Amino acid sequence: MIDPAPIGAEGGESLALDATPIEAWPDRLEAVCTGLRFLRRAVVVRETGSTQDLARGRAEGDVVVAWRQTSGRGRDGRTWADTGLGGVAVTAVAAVHGPWIALAAGVAAAEAIERVAPSIAVGLKWPNDLMIAGRKVGGVLIERDGDASLIGIGINVSQPSFDGELATRATSLAIAGACVDRLVLLEALLPRLDHWLAAGESPTIGAFQQRDMLRGRVVRLSAAGAIVEGVVESIDPLVAIRIRRSDGVHHVDVSTARIESFM
Ligand code: BTN
Repeated sequence: MIDPAPIGAEGGESLALDATPIEAWPDRLEAVCTGLRFLRRAVVVRETGSTQDLARGRAEGDVVVAWRQTSGRGRDGRTWADTGLGGVAVTAVAAVHGPWIALAAGVAAAEAIERVAPSIAVGLKWPNDLMIAGRKVGGVLIERDGDASLIGIGINVSQPSFDGELATRATSLAIAGACVDRLVLLEALLPRLDHWLAAGESPTIGAFQQRDMLRGRVVRLSAAGAIVEGVVESIDPLVAIRIRRSDGVHHVDVSTARIESFM
């Protein structure tokens, strides 16, 4: 375990709702990596700005996990709020490439949540937001580091509420009614991530489509400077979004598409 910040810097372990203390995390996560193909070593830190930054330059197979992440990064230059001791923040360094690995991370996280909280159904909002009942519970950030990909996953676990504009858009497993120990969630997540990275692109796309929560919904999306509104017929997540409008079905190329809102 790397220990860049002494315990107490985050305000005390008592804030964590986990049943398992941090001291148990390294051995338990190391054990879960045994026999996996891509994720081989757990690196647990008490506190870091971003697990993505801490993972940069590390060896393929390392999985950086933070007890607390204070200034995480999201997609498109956004920030990922400090989740205190209420979130999962993990970055895996893996020698796997391609836009599909973001889908693999989303599918793996959805499966892990449902494994530890069977009452919860997790959908994926293209490209890789984890959603519960229309609100975001987690996200995925993929970055390149030389020959490796940095696969970052953040999940809101035990936050009782969110402030400001997040209040209407974000959720946590606790808000969804599940009391989950973060270590138990991580133990479910790492094997599922390894599984989907090994499975490859085509099975991963199929698994994503099974969880596609936009299908059948009315969306407003921007693409190549235009706004398109209509009902999502289907999403081929690396190719095109098929939108039905009164004038027919439109294929929107995913390369510039961005979901602005959905109903
Ligand atoms: C998004 O939805 O915009 C992606 C959010 C990704 C957050 C995770 S938390 C672990 C890893 N470290 C970071 O700084 N970001 C990712």
